[in-house]
Amino acid sequence: MSSLSPEKPIEIFQDSFERCEKEDFLMTFYKRFVNISPEIQEKFEGVDLERMRDLVYESLYFMMMASNETTKATADLDQLGEFHAKHGVTRQMYDTWLDCLVDTAREYDPNWNEKVEDCWRAVMKVGIDIMKEQAPH
Ligand code: HEM
Repeated sequence: MSSLSPEKPIEIFQDSFERCEKEDFLMTFYKRFVNISPEIQEKFEGVDLERMRDLVYESLYFMMMASNETTKATADLDQLGEFHAKHGVTRQMYDTWLDCLVDTAREYDPNWNEKVEDCWRAVMKVGIDIMKEQAPH
């Protein structure tokens, strides 16, 4: 990477995600998230683990697209927010989702530092904020 083109947050996030992915990062995150509280566990009752792994992958992709200002992905996130609102997903649960994600990435990425963490949070924030808008107050 040349000093003339400093890495953007999304690039720093992607590099970190690639370092995480070598291990079973997605499943570890999902298990951590689901087991963090009975109310979250209850929402995922009966959901297949393999499906959840794919869902998490898909979720991160959605978030990245939103952060890239892709209009289509933003529209999809409105719908996804509505879907979650119908399932009773609260704003607090989105915060928990992000904290679990960051805690897991911190464990898996050998090059983790404060800047990398800021980039994960910044990239996820755009999409999460869109989804949160639909959440019950
Ligand atoms: C930014 C955060 C999140 C993203 C991007 C995301 C993404 C998704 C996606 C793409 C689906 C599949 C929707 C479909 O089948 O049409 C889904 C399903 C689901 N999500 Fe999320 N999700 C997020 C946070 C949460 C949170 C915080 C909860 C809280 C418990 C949650 C609970 C669920 C549940 C219960 C399902 C249904 C699973 C099923 O029955 O197959 N999600 N999510």
